[in-house]
Amino acid sequence: MKLSENELQELAQQLRCPDGESGLKVGEMMNFTNSNIIIKTIESLNIKNDDTLLEIGPGNGGHVKDIITIAKNITYFGIDISETMVEEAENINGDLENVSFRLTDGEHIPFSEKHFDAVFTCNTIYFWKDPQDYANEIARVMREGGIVSISFIPKSTMQKIPFAKYGFTLYDIESVTSLMQNTGLTIISVVTDTEMVRSTSGEKIEREFVVLTAKKQSNT
Ligand SMILES: C[S@@+](CC[C@H](N)C(=O)[O-])C[C@H]1O[C@@H](n2cnc3c(N)ncnc32)[C@H](O)[C@@H]1O
Repeated sequence: MKLSENELQELAQQLRCPDGESGLKVGEMMNFTNSNIIIKTIESLNIKNDDTLLEIGPGNGGHVKDIITIAKNITYFGIDISETMVEEAENINGDLENVSFRLTDGEHIPFSEKHFDAVFTCNTIYFWKDPQDYANEIARVMREGGIVSISFIPKSTMQKIPFAKYGFTLYDIESVTSLMQNTGLTIISVVTDTEMVRSTSGEKIEREFVVLTAKKQSNT
């Protein structure tokens, strides 16, 4: 089914900040459609026992139960700008220990410096208001030796997705590399992959995605 321009605009807004009943549905849909990207991003972090993790924009957090069993004594924090998603993530994950979610403004990361061993974010970079400031925030909260993985669908693919013209900032690998290098982080891997997903209008499409991983060296 082809969506009207109004429906595409509404979907784009819900992807940016899911709200209310339709936000809950979009949250479920994202967690399903993006599961492969999320899994690949988590794998790139090499999570170890006792790690403290930050996820930016977890949506409904349906994947968090699988993260905290990867190693022993993991502490997970998820920050999101959507009240609907934070509440839903708390409902879904309420029985997990050392897991918490917090509503944030999307511009500041409300943690002290050098707090996290690993930071990750899937499909949120399109919505960062001031990308360099936010990248700096990420670098600030990472411990020395810590890593960050940012996954996104590159500009070349996004340009073919009908809702992406409504409020998405599109990135290629070079622009995300520069953003992270400007914070002083060192890029350690950039993996491009493709997958088949169902589009908003129901047909199967091939989609490219990128997982970019950077490290905070001890002298940063
Ligand atoms: C497109 S969804 C992606 C959800 C999930 N990460 C995934 O890949 O399926 C974007 C999520 O990030 C949140 N978000 C958008 N901008 C954000 C920001 N600057 N900081 C934190 N969360 C943000 C939205 O509320 C939403 O839950």
